[in-house]
Amino acid sequence: MPSFNIRLLESPEDMSLVEDLQRAVWPGSETDVVPAHMLITAVHNGGLVLGAFSEEKIIGFVFGFPGLESTPDGPRAKHCSHMMGIHPSHRDSGVGFALKRAQWQMVRHQGLDHVTWTYDPLLSRNAYLNIAKLGAVCTTYRRAEYGEMRDGLNAGLPSDRFQVDWWINTRRVERRLGKRSRPTLKLTHIARSGLHPLYSLQYRTDDLPRPPEHLPPLEDRLLVVEIPDDFLALKSIDFALARDWRFFTRELFEAAFAASYIVTDFVFDRAEGKPRSLYVLTHGESTLEQFE
Ligand SMILES: CC(C)(COP(=O)(O)OP(=O)(O)OC[C@H]1O[C@@H](n2cnc3c(N)ncnc32)[C@H](O)[C@@H]1OP(=O)(O)O)[C@@H](O)C(=O)NCCC(=O)NCCS
Repeated sequence: MPSFNIRLLESPEDMSLVEDLQRAVWPGSETDVVPAHMLITAVHNGGLVLGAFSEEKIIGFVFGFPGLESTPDGPRAKHCSHMMGIHPSHRDSGVGFALKRAQWQMVRHQGLDHVTWTYDPLLSRNAYLNIAKLGAVCTTYRRAEYGEMRDGLNAGLPSDRFQVDWWINTRRVERRLGKRSRPTLKLTHIARSGLHPLYSLQYRTDDLPRPPEHLPPLEDRLLVVEIPDDFLALKSIDFALARDWRFFTRELFEAAFAASYIVTDFVFDRAEGKPRSLYVLTHGESTLEQFE
């Protein structure tokens, strides 16, 4: 049983707890804190702020609000999930997954079927949670989405983001969030399917993974593309290398989305000693499900 509970936050007191938690999750930039009055206005107008509490202390939150997207049939309502943050001392304990699961239930209850949000595609933990565990997919790469960001996690690099689509009434998502959730893919599934990563990471003496010099041609129906397993650590050791990764993956994903590939899965595997992090992209009717 998890040692935390989740509740809907609505009061000004609750919102100031969320302000404080934001400072702990994204240190260093007071102007990037979403203030209590904005959170209150959002929740009075269909927005959702959910908090996770352990021993009466807030350890995580997720915040989103209704939005409109353009479709050929005109504007259509969706839920725009703007921020999720878990206190650094409570990560990797399932709090993020549980908050998104609660959000999934609430948004379905509002009668919506589409949730979107953005994340940095080089963050392996976020990718694993969003794509593999929650079943979001991605076809949209946004360059420098938030301009120059000032907080401690994001400062210094162009704020490129994936915008993911979470189709919350689909079997794909229900299979991941239901009682008997689908096991996530591992390297053995990739190997068994006869697939090979599009490129191999290059290592020099510093043991930091480097992207290839040039983007290989994107030809296969399924692409497996590897990223660093800990991009924030890499960035803190070798900033120039972090920039190389940003620009390499920008070129890669923009080319892939232009060629109609879809990010549909993510592998995070610690089995072979060194953790490995790989996106799976599918084209047309191909899906890795056939290899499960
Ligand atoms: C991203 C974040 C919200 C995830 O919350 P969390 O509570 O740690 O997430 P969960 O524990 O539910 O899931 C994380 C999963 O990633 C796995 N993981 C840990 N390190 C990983 C890595 N380097 N690569 C891939 N997966 C990793 C965990 O093992 C866990 O999977 P498991 O439950 O199957 O073991 C949290 O880490 C956070 O607040 N990060 C900083 C702010 C941020 O990036 N917010 C999101 C954008 S607004």
